[in-house]
Amino acid sequence: MKFFRDLGSLVEGRWRDVNYDERAFPEIAAQALAETNPKDPWDIIRWLHTTPHLPSQQDVDGRFGNPPITLYCSPRFHIDVYFWLDGTTSIHQHAFSGAFQVLLGSSVHSQYSFEHQQHINSHFSVGQVCLNSAELLAEGDIRTIFPGRQFIHSLFHLDRPSATVTIRTYQNPDALPQYDFLKPCVALDSYFRDESTIKKIQSVVLLLAMEHPEADSFIGDLVSSSDFQTTISWATRKGPQQARPTCGLASHSLGGDSKAAKHNTSKGVYEDQRAPILPCAAIECAAQNEPARACEEAV
Ligand SMILES: [Fe+2]
Repeated sequence: MKFFRDLGSLVEGRWRDVNYDERAFPEIAAQALAETNPKDPWDIIRWLHTTPHLPSQQDVDGRFGNPPITLYCSPRFHIDVYFWLDGTTSIHQHAFSGAFQVLLGSSVHSQYSFEHQQHINSHFSVGQVCLNSAELLAEGDIRTIFPGRQFIHSLFHLDRPSATVTIRTYQNPDALPQYDFLKPCVALDSYFRDESTIKKIQSVVLLLAMEHPEADSFIGDLVSSSDFQTTISWATRKGPQQARPTCGLASHSLGGDSKAAKHNTSKGVYEDQRAPILPCAAIECAAQNEPARACEEAV
């Protein structure tokens, strides 16, 4: 699509002039978006339906966006548009840098900080997730994306659909891992993938969705034998396959939310699956390596 080829060439030239310094990329991307008129998102769909040559798609399965479409690809960055039917993203940081612009609709944009308190492992920390600001983003508004802890945010899309265009690097290695944050106090590596944890989470969803008569016993045994990270993963369904969309991150729902939400065993954990609030008692006892009895009480 010529508009985005020109936009990509503009960014490429300016970034090359500063030797591809990642620190300069957010401002370069934001400035390029500001200098070009926002594209009609429905022209993008028309183009998608007719072009014989799509750029290499960065998210073929449509795990982030409804759908995500890559509009321009170069060796060091790409330009995507994301249509949104889902209302909200997780609270997350990024392992890349860039800028985004609202093309369609409006969004509540919230920014957070994370006050690190305890390192559990390389994929999981405990601290305080603090809301710093909230603003309304309207069509045409642009925001920079900085990697790591300096930019932790979430978006709640007010219109259906909403659409945003993003100019972003592939990955800033020094900004890994990319964390999701769960209020009030957990940071989870959103790319961490452990087959055992995934299957345990899926099994808990099964037990709760069907209201298995021995669900309490099954889950109690699971908690008794689990580490802190695994316990939090299943308690919030915030495992690698259950995370809500973050930038460039897979998201799948396993379903069964309504019944799970009503299950007495996990009441308080499941009552708002879209914005999980962790039971503090569970966090405290697990952090103290007392996952068995204390956490059973907490859930
Ligand atoms: Fe983001």
